Parts: sequence; structure tokens; C-alpha cells
Amino acid sequence: MRNITNSRSQPLFLTDMNNNPTAPIGIFDSGIGGLTVAQAIKKLLPKENIVYFGDTAHLPYGDKSEAAIQAYSIKIADILLKKSCKVIVIACNSASSASYELLKEYVRKDAHIINVIDPMVEYITENFSGKRIGLIGTKRTVQSGIYSRKIQEANSGILLQSLATPLLAPMIEEGFFNNQISHEIIRQYLEDETLKDIDALVLACTHYPLIKKEINQFYQNQVAVLDSAEVVAQALQRHLAYNRLLHAEEALLDHFFVSDYTESFEASTRLFFGEQVTLEKHPLWN
Ligand code: DGL
Repeated sequence: MRNITNSRSQPLFLTDMNNNPTAPIGIFDSGIGGLTVAQAIKKLLPKENIVYFGDTAHLPYGDKSEAAIQAYSIKIADILLKKSCKVIVIACNSASSASYELLKEYVRKDAHIINVIDPMVEYITENFSGKRIGLIGTKRTVQSGIYSRKIQEANSGILLQSLATPLLAPMIEEGFFNNQISHEIIRQYLEDETLKDIDALVLACTHYPLIKKEINQFYQNQVAVLDSAEVVAQALQRHLAYNRLLHAEEALLDHFFVSDYTESFEASTRLFFGEQVTLEKHPLWN
């Protein structure tokens, strides 16, 4: 692992930002929830090769300290840089709020970095100016106040009301959705006073697209429910096009690594990615 403070004087893996269009896109999350973002990226950019890393040994991130998430993120960035990724997508709100600035500094010229928060903030400030918006996410994301700060900076007159919903990510990782238990937990959270009279709800956790249908049912489709998978994929497409980094050839093989392998994680990939993928336990993780 490189020392951040000394990184300027140390030789980098590459002499400049990885500007090789044939290089893969690195994507990471605390677990397999980030596959919802990977799926949207693959759909929009089918020619791109993907290297995914799910830190299943340490999930959930939402209850961890900022320092712990930063340490995990740096270790994962090292793995993705060794795979020569041209861009690293932080497909996790908790890690985006805790580690984006640090990773930008750490990765420097080796790769581009995209987080899941900025594209969503841009989307809502463009489309919901002057409205009352609710947000649900992990404790880490909500306590960081990062969405409120960025929305305020954009000066769009949006009133943001955020609620931490810590049971949802573990519930979804365990495959509990579209059943009585999930309906009840979702209902209890969404009935919270904080989310009264909202025009839209931001799903500020990459696990939550899996319960979007249930949330829409709760609101009887009267509230816009926004998940970041597609907006992030579109932001990535724009970024790659602008930097002339789009892959022109057919994709070869995608890789999906985890820090801890179980059969149930592998089975759940079908729900998050739309098809079951083979998970490889990453050899460098100990
Ligand atoms: N999917 C992650 C997020 O977007 C985190 C879930 C967790 O590990 O707590 O916040």
C-alpha cells in the first residue's frame, strides 16, 4: 500500500492518468449491492470490461466508522489499480461519503474516480428545484450530511429531509424483500415524520433498488423514487466520452471479486445484477 503523504515523490504505477480506453472499469461496494450500479453500467456501456469488488468480509459499511471505511477503500483501490482500471466507480454511498476525497488524493493520476453522490445531487438539483425531497440511506451516509451540504451548495431551494434506515441493507443482503417482513420494516421507516409530504425520495444506498417496487407501492406511485444506478451510469458515460476513454471493441471478460466468498452471496448476484455471476475470492485479501 502506498503512503498517501509521500505519494508525490514515489513512482506511480503509470506516468499519467490511466488514459487507456481498453482498460477495465473498476467498481466497488461493501457487498453485492453495488452490482445494481454495475448492471446499469453494463447495460449502457456493454463494450466496457468490468472488474467488480464486493467487500463482503466487512459489510455492512453503513455502521462502520469513517476511518474503517477509508482503510477498506484504500485497500480496494490498490487492488483495482493493480488491475489497471482506467476509472474507479465507488458504487456505495457510505464509501462515497467517507472516502471519495481521500481516494481522489490517493489515486491521483493513476485512475479517474466517480462517486455515486455527485451525479444524484446534480440530477435532483436540475429536476426538483424548490421541492421537498426525502432521502433514506445508511447511518454513515446520513450522519455525514454530505447530500445536504452539496444540495445547499447548489443553491436550488431544495429542502432535504434525511432518515437513516440501517436495517434495510442487511435485510436486502439476506434476501428479505417483497415479503411481509420487508413490507413492515419499509412501512415503519417511510411513515417517519421526517419523510412527511415529500415530492421525491432519494434511495441513497445502492442496495435499495431491490426494494424500489415496494417503496413505490407504499407511496402508490405518488412520489418520485430515485435510485442512482442509471444516473451514475450516465455520468460515467459522459466522463468517459469527454476524456476519450470509451472502449470501442467488444468486451472480453468481466471479473467479480469478493473479500469473503459464500454460496449465498453468489446466488444473490442474480437479483442484483440480473444474472448470476461467478464470484472469485480475491487472493490478495487477508
Ligand atoms: N450499498 C452501500 C451504500 O450505498 C452500503 C450498504 C452497507 O454496507 O451498509 O451505502
